[in-house]
Amino acid sequence: MTEALRVGVAGLGTVGAAAVRMLARQAEALAARCGRKVAVVAVSSRDRGKDRGFDAAGLRWFDDPAALAGWDGIDVLVELIGGAEGVARQAATRALESGKSVVTANKALLAAHGMELARLAESKGGALAFEASVGGGIPIVKTLREGLAGNTVTRVSGILNGTCNYILSRMEMEKLSFDDCLADAQRLGYAEADPTFDIGGFDTAHKVAILASLAFGTAIDADAIHIEGIETISLADIAAADELGFRVKLLGVAERVGRGVEARVHPTMVAKTTSIAQVMGVTNAVTVDADAVGQLTLVGPGAGGEATASAVVADIADIARGVRLAPFGLPTASLADVERIPVQRHEGGYYIRLDVADRPGAMAAIATRMAERAISLESIVQKASHSSGARVPVVLITHATTETSVREALDRVVADGFVSGKPQLIRIERA
Ligand code: HSE
Repeated sequence: MTEALRVGVAGLGTVGAAAVRMLARQAEALAARCGRKVAVVAVSSRDRGKDRGFDAAGLRWFDDPAALAGWDGIDVLVELIGGAEGVARQAATRALESGKSVVTANKALLAAHGMELARLAESKGGALAFEASVGGGIPIVKTLREGLAGNTVTRVSGILNGTCNYILSRMEMEKLSFDDCLADAQRLGYAEADPTFDIGGFDTAHKVAILASLAFGTAIDADAIHIEGIETISLADIAAADELGFRVKLLGVAERVGRGVEARVHPTMVAKTTSIAQVMGVTNAVTVDADAVGQLTLVGPGAGGEATASAVVADIADIARGVRLAPFGLPTASLADVERIPVQRHEGGYYIRLDVADRPGAMAAIATRMAERAISLESIVQKASHSSGARVPVVLITHATTETSVREALDRVVADGFVSGKPQLIRIERA
């Protein structure tokens, strides 16, 4: 049997510890599948004393992840520290520079420096593998890069953040507050170290950046993604959505528009009858539209130690087998720069919730402003006021229109003085 693949794991949080346990638990099966043993020989973490459910005796311990990355006793660095900069970037760079392979779940690092790391891997001969960076345990990277190699992909979209989907699901099902749901997501190990990455939509955007590159053969361009988080979603929106036959989901979408790519992350109204609307809790779902297979949806656990470790271990197994692929499906020099379509050119339906003055002419003025921008309304619902105050919630659903039209119309509605506060605007996705 070939010599064992020597693995160093940097970062022993929920995922890192689960990966070390999984590699031990599956040692025999992995050796049989890969034709060689896979052994964790070293780890790096800040806290040596913590019980992580595996025996650390016999493992070499590094306080500095970059020192582990440079150590010639490993073949593969598993980077599970997180963060686009700092030690994670240093360690990954150092490992690749010395010809080692890197396995990472770090979508922030890939979104910011994926091209640079892929070039390093290419020039030094190591692998750069990141199945765990998108969709937790869902093998979407392998699906796009390998399984769909014979297709032209036109769209990739889905629920890519377990924390957000968990929060939105529990708000809807249990009428719980946003903060209570977030605290539970943190306690269960779903959330990022800084949960604003989750709820602000940034984590989803990092994943969209990676998926878009794999799907369309383009260079990563995370800055071109339009991002809105779920912080503004209230129980009022969730209840209104429910009454109108919708559910609110944070979607990440990247699609071909002409010769360009439109990429966006935002809360989205999806019809309750669609399959994406059935995806609840920490579960993720990724839908790929491609010419040969039509539509393909992968559903599975998007966060959590065991599920994410499953993807990490799959990458390690590939490296043990000798698999070396262009990380983003094409040699980096062939990854194209394409026109990035701004969200202002987005076309679709919109949900609009306004807090409207309960006085004559208000609804007529709103309808007029919509008509001026050629926006056709599918429904307009005015709720009875719950208080003696002079304001009532009004919800409008538009037929397909453009983002620019709807924004201009709303600016005029606000200027007319009939509404208070900022209008709530949520795009509707019909798929
Ligand atoms: N915080 C992420 C999520 C973890 O909630 O989906 C997986 O990337």
